[in-house]
Amino acid sequence: MKITVIGTGHVGLVVGACLAEIDNDVLCLDSDPSKIEALRAGRSPFFEPDLEPMVQRNQQAGRLAFTLEIEQAVAHSQVIFLCLGTPPLPSGEADLSVVERVTRQIATLADGYRLVIGKSTVPVLTGQRIQKTMQLYSRGASGEQFDVASNPEFLAEGTAVYDFLYPDRIVVGVESLKAENLLREIYAPVVRQDFPWNLERPSPRNGREIPMLVTNRNSAELIKHASNSFLAMKISYINAVANLCDKVGADVEQVAHGMGFDHRIGSQFLKSGIGFGGFCFPKDLQAFVWIANQNGYDFQLLREVEKINLQQIDVFLQKLRSEVWVLGGKTIAAWGLAFKPNTDDLRFSPALTVIKKLLEQGAKIRAYDPKAMEEARKELPSLTFCSSALEAAEGADALLLLTEWAEFKTVDLAALRSKMTRPLIIDGRNVFDAQTIRAAGFEYASMGRP
Ligand code: UDX
Repeated sequence: MKITVIGTGHVGLVVGACLAEIDNDVLCLDSDPSKIEALRAGRSPFFEPDLEPMVQRNQQAGRLAFTLEIEQAVAHSQVIFLCLGTPPLPSGEADLSVVERVTRQIATLADGYRLVIGKSTVPVLTGQRIQKTMQLYSRGASGEQFDVASNPEFLAEGTAVYDFLYPDRIVVGVESLKAENLLREIYAPVVRQDFPWNLERPSPRNGREIPMLVTNRNSAELIKHASNSFLAMKISYINAVANLCDKVGADVEQVAHGMGFDHRIGSQFLKSGIGFGGFCFPKDLQAFVWIANQNGYDFQLLREVEKINLQQIDVFLQKLRSEVWVLGGKTIAAWGLAFKPNTDDLRFSPALTVIKKLLEQGAKIRAYDPKAMEEARKELPSLTFCSSALEAAEGADALLLLTEWAEFKTVDLAALRSKMTRPLIIDGRNVFDAQTIRAAGFEYASMGRP
């Protein structure tokens, strides 16, 4: 099928490349010339495992192309995925101005039927707004000339390609049979797990079909916000439990482990630390609270989730402060900048929030991240960027573990200890085993563990 994808960010590029991989003819549009230039040369503008080779392979095979021209994108196909940014406004409301502008452009340019699919996370009722905008601005024809569907993405950065091809479920929110049938056709290879591509990790589905859930449009939009907020709630919940563990000498990892055996709870997203970040959870939570409020419901529960998440930074910094006393003039090693491992994404990264607060207090930061340093240089030029984890620890009065990259777990502890002025580790991601690290001569504190 010919498919257009508008927006080549973390969602759009993965969606475009994966749809090409399952044999569609995909044209991706972005308004940023440097991005399009890089993509045409086979380079992904951000790091995402498996993505760059997929972009190259599908471009070479003629199934994937990139354009800056909206006219070309709208003319390319009947099916248009909207993968546009929906950043937060100061009120928490999602900024949908780009979605609105692009919808108007599609409406005025389309010369026949179009199925417009909302893929990025948007507040409930956005599809309805898109529908209305299409009606108002389309070249004159009736509503039959287009459909607007919601097909939320559930891709997590770092595993996005995998998540697209092996999803837990596919959700499509439609208001017409024609839209449903088109989406069923697009996703048939994923539902049947019928595509040639093989990841190192085998399909977790074991030959079973992927569930495809067809709902109305508003429900699909809500499923996405409700899912993300629920996961964020799990994280804040375990962080709150971790804070209690700290006070009573319990171990949050043991508590989470014990809880996770109950299949109604599940073991995932119960890892305590310095809180959640990234471009999804913080903004989706705010947008969900905002849209609930607009519709007359005060979502207090989620406001508390947000509050606990922000407090985690202070809980962590307090552990550091109680050890080093005065931060001004101290050298602090920061391991990890990205909001989580396996990505170079710094957006709403708790690691950066920690670092900014330390800089305000006059600390000198020596930072290392395996992937995110190029981006961080632009945002925080006053840091000393180091080329390895050990180099960052040179002369440090304390080491902060802020993102749980795998390489930190296997660092040579004796070499690390010899580099530091004071062998103090504050582990914001509970990476190290406390006994091992203390046996290696370190002072050690972590989140919710004795
Ligand atoms: C998330 C959702 O998982 C995905 O389904 C959705 O489509 C987009 O938002 P992502 O933002 O890429 O994906 O990251 P995720 O792996 O969910 O982690 C989000 C944040 O929560 C990270 O900062 C991570 O460090 C933190 N986290 C996650 C915890 O602190 N504890 C956990 O147990 C899990």
